[in-house]
Amino acid sequence: MDSHITIFDTTLRDGEQSPGYSMNKQEKVQLALQLEKLGVDVIEAGFPIASDGDYETVREIGKIVKKSSVAALCRTRYVDLERAVSAVELAAKPRIHTFIATSDIHLKYKLQKSREEVLESAVKAVEFAKSYYDDVEFSAEDASRSDPEYLIEIFTAVIEAGATTINVPDTVGYALPWEYGELIKTLNENIPNIDQATISVHCHNDLGLAVANSLMAVRNGARQIECTVNGIGERAGNASLEEVVMAIETRKNNMAYTTGINTKEIFSSSQLLAQITGKGVQPNKAIVGENAFAHEAGIHQHGVLKNPLTYEIMTPESVGLTCNRIVIGKHSGRFALGKKLEELGYFLNKEDLNQIYNEVTKLADKQKVVEDKDLISIMANTNYSKKNPDNSFVAG
Ligand code: KIV
Ligand code: ZN
Repeated sequence: MDSHITIFDTTLRDGEQSPGYSMNKQEKVQLALQLEKLGVDVIEAGFPIASDGDYETVREIGKIVKKSSVAALCRTRYVDLERAVSAVELAAKPRIHTFIATSDIHLKYKLQKSREEVLESAVKAVEFAKSYYDDVEFSAEDASRSDPEYLIEIFTAVIEAGATTINVPDTVGYALPWEYGELIKTLNENIPNIDQATISVHCHNDLGLAVANSLMAVRNGARQIECTVNGIGERAGNASLEEVVMAIETRKNNMAYTTGINTKEIFSSSQLLAQITGKGVQPNKAIVGENAFAHEAGIHQHGVLKNPLTYEIMTPESVGLTCNRIVIGKHSGRFALGKKLEELGYFLNKEDLNQIYNEVTKLADKQKVVEDKDLISIMANTNYSKKNPDNSFVAG
């Protein structure tokens, strides 16, 4: 089985559905260009039926993005499909992504349709999309709470109708990793024409399991992961692109998969999204949070300064950061303080360092973090006047 994982980015569609994250056309175009640079295989640019603005944005992204496929989302209704088909007509690599719910709870309360009606609607939508483009994705919304037998039936039918990707969303973030893995395995083993399509996964993070579920799906035969930068998306968000990709990169020894992502563009993509939306990233967010590569505890700092592998499983450089961050606080030791002072140009002998260390720990007791400017001010108030490497005790 192919080991390449297609990265389908839905920051501009599902991501934008998170409250407070709406973006205008120019912002979305800017982000789409960054996503292309990041190397995502598919950019889901929007939901063209939702508004004229969304339609125009998808069109514009289709016009300018050349390397990534550009997908437009639509329900299985003809008005939706026509709008989506038209929105990606200028794209170098257009994809139509059509969806309908398949769980009994959605059929009964939301769609008021029978399973037969839903299946017919899905097949007709895929046939319609296929009459325009080769690349057609079908999603069974709320798949993780749908009857697997019914999923086998509907996925078989849409592949027969021309779907090249079948997506198995955990729409409400309810699945557990082993359950979800089992579902993907069942589909992979029982859909008779599955060799003609790629299995995709789209996991929401309501229980904090979106990344784990996506990886479990890959282990069981999925080859496309739908995800977003910074993990944004409906409610608790979607699987985070940077976490999925760096898990695959970092644990190559356990998972022999590849992606086309240029990981060095991860940090700038995250920052661009935060800057555009005005929503910062939580400090302890894996991979891209400001503390993801920061060390405050003395023991950790000592280890990292001697050899980063002691406390870092991946390098900050690999995600586009220039260095790890040694934070001086009340847990820091003399070794890290000496290194930090060297970075600032002060090379202290043992005696001076002890004296400064006492000053710094007093300050660290009062405030959480001792900033560079605090260190400079402490140094200015001592009789240490020269920046002299020959004086150095701590550099080793
Ligand atoms: O969560 C979901 O089910 C979706 C589909 C439209 C793919 O976002
Ligand atoms: Zn979703």
